Amino acid sequence: MVKKNAETFIILARLIICRIMVDTILVTGGAGFIGSHTCEKLLNEGFTVVAIDNFNDYYDVSQKEDNVSILITNPEFTLIKGDITDADTVNQVFLEQGVNRVIHLAARAGVRPSIEDPQLYGNVNLIGTINLLEAARKQKITQFIFGSSSSVYGENTNVPFNEEDTLRNLVSPYAVTKRAGELMCKCYHSLYDLDVVCLRFFTVYGPSGRPDMAPFMFTKKIMEGTPINKFGDGTTQRDYTFISDIVEGIIGSMKLKGFEIINLGNNNPVSLNEFIKTIEKMTGKQAIINQMPMQPGDVPITYADISKAKKLIGYEPKIKLEEGMKKFFDWFRPSS
Ligand SMILES: NC(=O)c1ccc[n+]([C@@H]2O[C@H](COP(=O)([O-])OP(=O)(O)OC[C@H]3O[C@@H](n4cnc5c(N)ncnc54)[C@H](O)[C@@H]3O)[C@@H](O)[C@H]2O)c1
Repeated sequence: MVKKNAETFIILARLIICRIMVDTILVTGGAGFIGSHTCEKLLNEGFTVVAIDNFNDYYDVSQKEDNVSILITNPEFTLIKGDITDADTVNQVFLEQGVNRVIHLAARAGVRPSIEDPQLYGNVNLIGTINLLEAARKQKITQFIFGSSSSVYGENTNVPFNEEDTLRNLVSPYAVTKRAGELMCKCYHSLYDLDVVCLRFFTVYGPSGRPDMAPFMFTKKIMEGTPINKFGDGTTQRDYTFISDIVEGIIGSMKLKGFEIINLGNNNPVSLNEFIKTIEKMTGKQAIINQMPMQPGDVPITYADISKAKKLIGYEPKIKLEEGMKKFFDWFRPSS
């Protein structure tokens, strides 16, 4: 009887250890916009989450601190303030935390600033990604999910953008670093059989949204009554995708094996003019327009073909722009 109990105890202990090992997910950029929402969802689903973030000042650091303030109260969440460009730090995190799955979202994420400082973008977005892939290879982790971007489609005119499209005319260093990251992921899959999913996100917005992106910037300026810079004639289009839909897509892709590149967008592009009207309606205020020429690095349209995401992971974006912007505004108003 005692022997049987001991055996049962050992089996249970093994199962618990196994579960802990299987479920320790490293989210890089975990204090950022998409990263913090992803951590929250993973914790709600019962995973153990380790987040690494260097809390850089690309935008207000207090917003990143707010993003993690609730998460750090959860015992299943570990926050590491560290830099992914430091290979020793990355290796140490993998070893000490027993990481066996990675959702890699840390990056320098601005398109226009990448033209000003391409070295920084290359260092964080490519060298940082290599550091993580190397650690992933050494630790033989289960899966690597890479946060890529619709910007890799560059000036693609073949709409909607399909994962099989030939990628020509990438128009910013940011876009090139993201494509290079995808290629490096593919290389690690081929060399080491690492399961990888590269997710191409399309203009993500929602609560905790980035202050450098149009939804936040325009809402802030229209509320303040200060002019917004409108680049081009307003016919450029973006496939705005709400954060909860993106997070569903990220979690859904955790079941995939092999190597996949998948668009996560809304499949419903909206023109800049329409977008400004949506914010005017939401805020009840009229925008003051500062007309500007098209900017280098900007693309005329982003428009996701999401049929692959639907087929492989049952991805179905649910939140329409007006509803999503209202949710964003509910978050933005008290914080503004
Ligand atoms: N938001 C979008 O519309 C969008 C669209 C396409 C792709 N993406 C990609 O999704 C990911 C997340 O984007 P986001 O909008 O949440 O941006 P974000 O800037 O809010 O999040 C990125 C996080 O990474 C952290 N970080 C940056 N450099 C780091 C480093 N060297 N070491 C550790 N942490 C570092 C930042 O502090 C930040 O918290 C990025 O890879 C971005 O390129 C975002």
